[in-house]
Amino acid sequence: MYIQRPLIAAMLAAGLLAACGGDDAPPTADQQASDLLAKMTLDEKIQLVHGAGYGLPEALGGAGVVKGIPRLGIPDLTNADSAGGVNVVGSNATPYPAPIALAASWDPALAHSYGSGIATELRTLGFAEGLGGGVNLAREPRNGRTFEYMGEDPVLAGNMIAQRTLGTQSQKVIATIKHYAGNEQETNRWAGSNSVIDERTLRELYLLPFEIGVKDGAPGNVMCAYNLVNGLQACESPYLLTDVLKTEWGFKGIVQSDWFFAVTDTVRAANAGLDEEEAGAADDSVGANLGGFQLPVTYFNQKLKAAVQAGTVPMARLNDMVQRKLRTLYASGVMASPPKAGGSIDQAAGNVAAQKVAEQSIVLLKNATPTGGTASVLPLSATAAQTIVVIGGHADAGVISGGGSGAVPARDGNAVTCLVPGAGLFSTCATWYKSSPLAAIKALAPNATVTYLDGSDAAAAATAAAAADVAIVFATQWQTEGADLPNLSLPNNAADPANQAYDQNGLITAVAAVAKRSVVVLETGTAVTMPWLGNVNAVLEAWYPGVQGGPAIANVLFGSVNPSGKLPLTFPQTEADLPQKTISATDLTVTYSEGLNMGYRWYDSQNITPLFPFGHGLSYTSFSYSGMATTANADGTATVSFTLKNTGARAGAEVAQVYAALPSSAGEPPKRLVAWQKVQLAAGESKTVSINVSTARMAVWNSTTHQWNTPSGSYTFFVGGSSRDTQSKVLVRS
Ligand code: BGC
Repeated sequence: MYIQRPLIAAMLAAGLLAACGGDDAPPTADQQASDLLAKMTLDEKIQLVHGAGYGLPEALGGAGVVKGIPRLGIPDLTNADSAGGVNVVGSNATPYPAPIALAASWDPALAHSYGSGIATELRTLGFAEGLGGGVNLAREPRNGRTFEYMGEDPVLAGNMIAQRTLGTQSQKVIATIKHYAGNEQETNRWAGSNSVIDERTLRELYLLPFEIGVKDGAPGNVMCAYNLVNGLQACESPYLLTDVLKTEWGFKGIVQSDWFFAVTDTVRAANAGLDEEEAGAADDSVGANLGGFQLPVTYFNQKLKAAVQAGTVPMARLNDMVQRKLRTLYASGVMASPPKAGGSIDQAAGNVAAQKVAEQSIVLLKNATPTGGTASVLPLSATAAQTIVVIGGHADAGVISGGGSGAVPARDGNAVTCLVPGAGLFSTCATWYKSSPLAAIKALAPNATVTYLDGSDAAAAATAAAAADVAIVFATQWQTEGADLPNLSLPNNAADPANQAYDQNGLITAVAAVAKRSVVVLETGTAVTMPWLGNVNAVLEAWYPGVQGGPAIANVLFGSVNPSGKLPLTFPQTEADLPQKTISATDLTVTYSEGLNMGYRWYDSQNITPLFPFGHGLSYTSFSYSGMATTANADGTATVSFTLKNTGARAGAEVAQVYAALPSSAGEPPKRLVAWQKVQLAAGESKTVSINVSTARMAVWNSTTHQWNTPSGSYTFFVGGSSRDTQSKVLVRS
């Protein structure tokens, strides 16, 4: 609890603190921060609220640095992008699977270790702050940054980001949650894209992951977004930054701007509640030129000083910005123990951690029995599969990853040469880690004949597939910051000439038509359409699986790992089924007209059958749900319990999902995810699972009173292994 200093003085005088031992208590981060703030000059305060510029040596190859003040013992505050690992070239940092993969694990403990594992490396490399916590929702699966986020559900994303945040900060590294808010697509983000979102939808969907992340994870940093929200720059919105984030949610950290063009006006941004401008510059008047890219001018340096001197930004507001910065430095442990550059990464430990995430996050989408067969095609048997042909996706060389600030450089060079190297701020070329699925498959099937074809000749691939016991086709989709996907089709050479040499859908169709057994392994950052789905026996979604993607995929293919991932976003049959039919290049107004009916809520409300529903994912064993019961508790919460049984012959984990349909008077979509538990079960084992559903998860935003209400009435709770595979029970809450 924060006790104001005058109050402490009064309490000391009255002997109150001494009586309870209070004068021995160490000062709080707030007290330490205000003591230090009192010693600072105006120039020093200004120095602490803006980045020093892009590409400075002090930034250590990361994204930016706020320069420290040695006379006061304030260290440089260095930051680096770290969506799926530290994005610093030459650092040997571990490329973890992308955040969308982490979300597919539905494992909060794994999210914690993901955060702490990446933070360990940030600190080793000298970074005090990780910019990794992207939590915008997959409203628009064509969003080029879907791989950096945690899917379409606010409760899944919010809980996972809270745990990731706690993990990051457990290593004395300041965590960031971004991009606050309404940044659900890349198109026109620097050109005034305005997300128009009604208040209830904003609160129940797009702000909710931030709310859960802030309240449960207490990040040091929240990065505001490039876009406008309801007509105001997100970084200049008093509603978002002050009323909601700071006042209502009690956020005590720093609101940091996104890097370029997020701020347009010093006074507006400062008074709205922005606490730090990035990337900033030493001189406000000029925007530097970054390889042909003209950086914008800075607003929180000389311009902010002048505004404070003129009184258009109150000194109290500047003091609050600095107080927040210092408090965060103290609370995080960075002040007492600033990270030192130059450490070396424990690559072996990183690889083990990254592989664990990959294995927990791979989703088995389909696993059918081939014609004439007696068992599902997966897992492959190393003895029964005598001849295996692996086709396409550069599976001989490695696995693909996403681009932009969420990229993680390869330690040992790109495994695949870019076909059309591009210029500009963001590369058009994918990075492929040298983790060959082909080599890993060979290692697990040492007695089989395993061959590889690069997929560029569909006819040759089909001939080889027809002759083999199993054909495994690898298919990839590259995504990057800065560009949305034109569609959800697996890209061909026309759609992505830098990374694809042929028509992937055509290849899969040709192979599936003749193969005895066909398996498709997808490495994608978002949903893809699958016109060939009915003709293949099995599909695995491996996402961007990171530096150990090859062995992780092979372990799942051969069953040494039983898949347990579940989709964190809906896979539609076609783009025509999406609420937003196209992403307009010219219309800057992006109206979230589907309102609350986003993601699975959309498909449920419109009665559209998705290709694969939210929460879907198969296992090599089977699970049954029985004995479902619901209880209304005196404190307003509900308890949902059931017996989960592993009815198959091997151990496995099931993500048991709980959804709720609210009383019809609430006017909510058909159902919402309210809780889940990932349960590990031995073959034949059953467990009684009891899950508490908080009142917050049953609440509805009232746009008239501007408050959450939990309606009384008849709730239907659903329990099951996906959003579309559930049993239900009604509970009346008074
Ligand atoms: C991205 C942020 C990133 C920042 C620093 C921006 O373009 O939107 O997510 O943290 O750059 O690299």
